[in-house]
Amino acid sequence: MSKIDCLICHDTTGTYKKAPPAAGMPDPKVDLVKVAKNVGHTSRATCGACHFNGGGGDAIKHADLSRDLLYPPRNCDIHMGGYDFGCVDCHQTRNHKIAGRSSSVPVVERTISCENCHSEKPHYGDTLLDHHLNKHCENIACNTCHSPVYAKCKPTKVWWDWSKAGDKARVAKKDKYGMPDYHWKKGEFKWAESPKPDYAWYNGFIKRIFLGDKVGLDDPVINITEPVGSIKDPNSRITPFKIMKGVQAFDTRYQYALVPHLFPRDKEDKTAYWKNTDWQKAFIDGMASAEIPYSGEYIWKETWMYWRSEHEVMPASMALSCVQCHESLKGEKTCNRCHKDNRDIDFKKLAHKGTDFSYMKSRGRDVSHLIGSTDYINFEALGYKGDPIVYGGRFKKLPLGNGNNK
Ligand code: HEC
Ligand code: HEC
Ligand code: HEC
Ligand code: HEC
Ligand code: HEC
Ligand code: HEC
Ligand code: HEC
Repeated sequence: MSKIDCLICHDTTGTYKKAPPAAGMPDPKVDLVKVAKNVGHTSRATCGACHFNGGGGDAIKHADLSRDLLYPPRNCDIHMGGYDFGCVDCHQTRNHKIAGRSSSVPVVERTISCENCHSEKPHYGDTLLDHHLNKHCENIACNTCHSPVYAKCKPTKVWWDWSKAGDKARVAKKDKYGMPDYHWKKGEFKWAESPKPDYAWYNGFIKRIFLGDKVGLDDPVINITEPVGSIKDPNSRITPFKIMKGVQAFDTRYQYALVPHLFPRDKEDKTAYWKNTDWQKAFIDGMASAEIPYSGEYIWKETWMYWRSEHEVMPASMALSCVQCHESLKGEKTCNRCHKDNRDIDFKKLAHKGTDFSYMKSRGRDVSHLIGSTDYINFEALGYKGDPIVYGGRFKKLPLGNGNNK
């Protein structure tokens, strides 16, 4: 914390910013007197000055942090939009220790979770579904149901191929969101708006590759970060992730990731990629600065990085409901299939409702392919034999088959 300056978090004028090449010094255009007279509490804007720009621009790296969280519609983020939460309402801060664990760096301060405020049995309304919803919380992370798509405020980068960089003549094409597919400095990109996350078992720990760690160059994909967890671990829950996929360079002999020297140090710089577009020179220089040996031979490999989706909670009425996951319940009209008593409840009204993708589509979200889906999470991919209602849960099997043994 000691090297971060105070104003980036405590400015309330919205005018304070840094000049990128000035190594952390304020932009000379900033009126520092005005800023100094207006210091105050942190805000979504001050925290976002850094976090909305992870990866070198707005909405690049994280699944769910972008400038749109400055004034989000309530459907994009119910806490920050509907209830005007600041970042620190959740990331509670004492003595400048900001709570909340990162996906990319080992945990430093306390972790925070939805349960801190909502408890482990958060469903308490008088709807009859509460019992089942609360039971699901043992196996499914809140945002699996409460944020069924990520980057719903703004497209995020999902593919980044560094190996294609260097072609200054190539003209970038705009995709359907108006986002560019190329930049000679950074390579080829793909973007996604409101995509369905990837789901994985996650117990709160992330496995990471650090600089200098050996990887398996024969593996088809190298995971830079990946969630730890399994269907057999009671502490793991099915959790939504954005996987940032891309192509990066590795040392063929030493089998670790290479760091290029990108940004020119000065006018004389002869090795910076963004001046000379020569990867070999950029790797030699970058690895020398990192003080890690480089064999001189490199290979491009596909890499994946898992980012959790922990923001952009939708209003409760937009959460996934029974039929969106359980194909087996699609034809039900009442709850009697499983309940011996005469629970003559209108199942359709209760359990078919769920996330309204048609409505989201009408608001411009890119979700038409999700309307009517009943296989929202792929049970087989997560280790089940099929729909748990038919084939059993991870630790037990319901005493029922296909509806004939009440
Ligand atoms: C990374 C963001 C960040 C930076 C940088 C930062 N602060 Fe803070 N500061 C906070 C947060 C969060 C709080 C909690 C209350 C709030 O939101 O304003 C806080 C609270 C404070 C308080 C109120 C007393 C307290 O401890 O709760 C003072 C005074 C303060 N900061 C001074 C400073 C000074 C001086 C610096 C520079 C050395 C600085 N801050 C840098 C985020 C930051
Ligand atoms: C000057 C830039 C900057 C500002 C301003 C800033 N942060 Fe950070 N923050 C970072 C960096 C860098 C990291 C570590 C790498 C990462 O997780 O991306 C980090 C990490 C975090 C983490 C993960 C913590 C951990 O232990 O790994 C959280 C949560 C966080 N910041 C929240 C906030 C909040 C809330 C504010 C506003 C009060 C804020 N940050 C302001 C740069 C900043
Ligand atoms: C409704 C509560 C809530 C609000 C509001 C909120 N966050 Fe978070 N944030 C979380 C939770 C929960 C996590 C997961 C933290 C953990 O596992 O310890 C998280 C994680 C993070 C991380 C780490 C992400 C990662 O995976 O590396 C960052 C950075 C972060 N938040 C920044 C922000 C910023 C900036 C704001 C304001 C614009 C903000 N948060 C507002 C709940 C919130
Ligand atoms: C700092 C406390 C805090 C944290 C952390 C937090 N919430 Fe909330 N949440 C609230 C409050 C306060 C409300 C508004 C009052 C209410 O509905 O209880 C709310 C409302 C909600 C609602 C109902 C929204 C509506 O009005 O339709 C949902 C759903 C929800 N939160 C889910 C989550 C999820 C999922 C997480 C974790 C990603 C989370 N919350 C993290 C405090 C929190
Ligand atoms: C299996 C999907 C699912 C999971 C997992 C889930 N929820 Fe919900 N949640 C829902 C649905 C559906 C509703 C709307 C219920 C209704 O119509 O009243 C809801 C409603 C809510 C509400 C509004 C209050 C209420 O009782 O209606 C809050 C707050 C909430 N959830 C928080 C959470 C938190 C926190 C977690 C994680 C601990 C979580 N939910 C996990 C599906 C889920
Ligand atoms: C996000 C997808 C999802 C949603 C939404 C969902 N389920 Fe499930 N459901 C699961 C998974 C995964 C399991 C298996 C949990 C385990 O391994 O024990 C399961 C298990 C079950 C079981 C058997 C386990 C048990 O004893 O509870 C029943 C019954 C069930 N769900 C009913 C419902 C009902 C009713 C709803 C609507 C309120 C619902 N589900 C919504 C994913 C979902
Ligand atoms: C696929 C089977 C299945 C379906 C469909 C189902 N339930 Fe259940 N339900 C169970 C089982 C099994 C239990 C008891 C053990 C448990 O919680 O897993 C249970 C327990 C309950 C409970 C708490 C204990 C009790 O009997 O009062 C309530 C309330 C409940 N269900 C309501 C409903 C309602 C309302 C519906 C229709 C919307 C429904 N369930 C649909 C299997 C199901």
